[in-house]
Amino acid sequence: MFENPNISSDIINQNNKNSLTYFIETYGCQMNVADSELVSNELEKIGYINSNKIEQADLILLNTCSIREKAEETVHNRLDSLHYLKKNNPKLLIGVIGCMAQNLKNELLDSKPYIDIILGPDSYRKISEIVYNRNNKIDHIVDTKLSKYEVYDNMFPSRKSGVNAWVSIMRGCDKFCTFCIVPFTRGRERSRSIKSIVEEVNKAVGDGFVEITLLGQNVNSYRTPDGDFPVLLEKVAKIKGVKRIRYTSPHPRDINEDVLNVMKKYDNICKNIHLPLQSGSTKILKTMNRTYTKEEFLNLVRVIRDYLPNCSISTDIIVGFPGEDEFDFNETLDVVRKVKFDFSYMFKYSSRPGTKASHYTNQVDEKVKQERLEKLISLQNEIRLKVNKSKIGSIEKVLIEKNSKKSDLFWSGRTDGNIWTVIKKTDEKIKDVVDVLITDAKGVTLFGENLNNRGQIS
Ligand code: SAH
Ligand code: SF4
Ligand code: F3S
Repeated sequence: MFENPNISSDIINQNNKNSLTYFIETYGCQMNVADSELVSNELEKIGYINSNKIEQADLILLNTCSIREKAEETVHNRLDSLHYLKKNNPKLLIGVIGCMAQNLKNELLDSKPYIDIILGPDSYRKISEIVYNRNNKIDHIVDTKLSKYEVYDNMFPSRKSGVNAWVSIMRGCDKFCTFCIVPFTRGRERSRSIKSIVEEVNKAVGDGFVEITLLGQNVNSYRTPDGDFPVLLEKVAKIKGVKRIRYTSPHPRDINEDVLNVMKKYDNICKNIHLPLQSGSTKILKTMNRTYTKEEFLNLVRVIRDYLPNCSISTDIIVGFPGEDEFDFNETLDVVRKVKFDFSYMFKYSSRPGTKASHYTNQVDEKVKQERLEKLISLQNEIRLKVNKSKIGSIEKVLIEKNSKKSDLFWSGRTDGNIWTVIKKTDEKIKDVVDVLITDAKGVTLFGENLNNRGQIS
């Protein structure tokens, strides 16, 4: 009955009797969202029920992120605010899982002795046993061993209903950008087999999901004996019922012509690439260990646009990396102006203990970082609005996802290029892909009319 042979029927019986509840709060990237779904399924297999109310849960898990100092601070504060719940429910278990658990286990145990469970990102297969043992009064359980092999094959996620299914295809990162904690919290790169990914996508389609987002810390350095990323992408594109495929996060170094050819060949692969720039200065890119120059990045954008003329390109940018002077920052602004990214996540550099860049002596003043961030955001907002306005009059394929926040008379959906679009309801349904004539652009949102049902719009 249960796929995990390690779980004894005792655990199942004990927990079923009491119908214990769990609550998971997820921070950080989509990989954590996907991992929380895996963990949920493991807990549900031993009888735990998902609770929407944190105050009533018997097990609270925070799935955490260490990417910037602020992400860690948020979790520290959240944990402090949850401590009091133990007074009302002495049996409550509080667990920290994910990247912070991996990164800060000792600090967490020292400063917050009320934490019962600490599990790193490669230890989720054991979560049911661990929760059971902790219930039987073993003090603090900690497991943060990173694995060279764990890809959670044969473990299926418990997905909330919706349109998009996250499917994790590889884990870890070997690139060691000098600012980044991920190679330390997630360990070495490893890829799941094509067979098991195809099986999971088929299951997701069977469960009603129409959009698949392939996930990995370095999604396109996916590598198996049966084929690399382009081979996998093509296999997934051919699965019946998959209306849309996205993938994130790729590294510019691993975007090649094979990937672009597959993207061009299949209509259901969104013409949308997240291409993290980090900096426009070749000098800074070198000290970041990004392995490309400003010119190579600009050239890659040209190649992408040659293959996929309407491909939207989004990015991640860090300002205030150690040694970044005004010239370097202007180089970043220059790339932003030249590429005209459709969307950008912009960050102030945050020093991460243990990474190479945290030892660099030429750190940038906080005030300067803030000024540069504001300048960059204002330029990017201007560009984004222009890019969105240029879409007025064009026809975009929109996947209908939910009621618009504005009113129940409107739908909200995303274009191929990942822009939220609001359309007036006619007789289309959630999960339909419709042709939308774009009529307006405000802030980050597009507005339009469903051309397929135009005659019916009042
Ligand atoms: N694997 C992806 C990015 C994963 S982390 C890639 O290679 O591009 C997501 C983003 O967080 C990064 O692209 C970077 O812009 C930002 N980031 C990572 N470490 C950071 C740090 N120390 N300070 C500020 N931003 C950081
Ligand atoms: Fe971090 Fe670089 Fe790896 Fe991306 S490629 S996860 S930025 S080390
Ligand atoms: Fe954060 Fe870990 Fe993702 S550090 S961004 S949760 S890989």
